[in-house]
Amino acid sequence: QPFVNGTQFPQVYASLAFSILAFVATLALIPRFSRAFVKIGLRGRDLLKKSEDDVPECMGLVAALVYICALVCFIPVPFSAAFISDPLTSRVNPEYAPHRQLAVYLAAILSVMIATILGLLDDLFDIRWRHKLPIPLVASVPLLLSYYAEQGNTHVVLPKPLAGWFGDFIDLGFFYYVYMAMLSTFTTNSINILAGINGVEVAQTIVISASIILNDLLFLPWPFTLKLGRIEISGFFGKALAQERHLFSLYFMMPLLAVSLGFAYHNKYPARAFPGDTLCYFSGMAFAVVAILGHFSKTLLLFFVPQAFNFILSAPQLFGLVPCPRHRLPKLRPDGYLDPSTAEIENPSGLTIFVLQVLNFFGLAKVKFSSDKRRGTTTNLTLLNFVLNKTGPIKESTLTNYVIVIQILSSAAGFAVRYGLAGLLYDG
Ligand code: UD1
Ligand code: MG
Repeated sequence: QPFVNGTQFPQVYASLAFSILAFVATLALIPRFSRAFVKIGLRGRDLLKKSEDDVPECMGLVAALVYICALVCFIPVPFSAAFISDPLTSRVNPEYAPHRQLAVYLAAILSVMIATILGLLDDLFDIRWRHKLPIPLVASVPLLLSYYAEQGNTHVVLPKPLAGWFGDFIDLGFFYYVYMAMLSTFTTNSINILAGINGVEVAQTIVISASIILNDLLFLPWPFTLKLGRIEISGFFGKALAQERHLFSLYFMMPLLAVSLGFAYHNKYPARAFPGDTLCYFSGMAFAVVAILGHFSKTLLLFFVPQAFNFILSAPQLFGLVPCPRHRLPKLRPDGYLDPSTAEIENPSGLTIFVLQVLNFFGLAKVKFSSDKRRGTTTNLTLLNFVLNKTGPIKESTLTNYVIVIQILSSAAGFAVRYGLAGLLYDG
């Protein structure tokens, strides 16, 4: 059997070995493909540098392909039970083969692949964000179907105070599928719009995948032996709960962390490769895949708090209430430091004025209106500009480091909520 209590270690180490290979491959391949990408027009100007040189764009494709390759080549490892032959006929016995888990694994790879293709199309044709927002919905279909076929439950456990009123669970039924489809839209797009300074997209995938790996490891039984004088206690450390799902998640997250680290080496300040939307799409989809099939979407959302903040703050620009320029990334000052970028507002509606004044009041944006309120400017509504508003001018690499610190703190808080606070709100 592919996922059996306590016997997973050789497979986890094999996955680790595949991940190390994937890291080395990404590290080595990106500079080798850079020229070819630039040659066919996949290049962009680094808007926060004085140099006018082109940087190869869409290099996340290399990471995505290495990732998919690693996942595909890994298939024989956890599913090696399929090779066990029947002792009587010495033929492979299909009854031993873990078809069910294999179907889930393949559906997950398919979703990641569709996300990669769509990300690539976006990089090639620069699809307008309004049109690309629902793209991940398509990619999540195989995922949702395998969730359905697994008799995935659509219940939500209610926190204790609510349970008294509504019972321990409510069944969301069809709406649970809507929620899951929206989750993949969120994970893919929210990384893509927390972007624009060197290293920031891939930094998010690194911290989030590392957090998921840590969370998965907490669910695997680790053998231990404790010696107290003559007494020797041995057993398993950790919860022997939901192991199959967390192993599955581990097999997807370790290579993702690996290719992200390999990519980050070339994307860190000063970037010699840009991720393109491909990186955001395939990694965002990988997160949705493991959270949905691993049944830990709420935990995942705890790791996405900075992205959620950025998304909600962006909403007035994304949904057309406030003008949204093509690029909202910070602005380079002549002294090499960064200032928040701004958007011009003309003839705003009453609602627009109100929303901006609220954001200004809470320090979420810096807004200025002319005395007749017919014209104005606001700092673009992103986490990056928000941080710059608080810190004053800082260097690009410092801003990336701040985002990394925010992301790590948010993961730490996520763990505290998941394993501390959740105990107060939920049983068990
Ligand atoms: C998203 C953001 C946009 C931001 C852009 C930057 C929204 C709705 N969209 O758009 O505001 O400006 O990402 O990636 O929030 N670039 C740099 N330095 C970097 C990374 C990118 O200068 O470190 C520039 C390059 O010119 C590059 C371009 O951004 O070619 C890539 O933009 P793209 O990923 O296509 O933008 P979107 O994802 O559409
Ligand atoms: Mg992008």
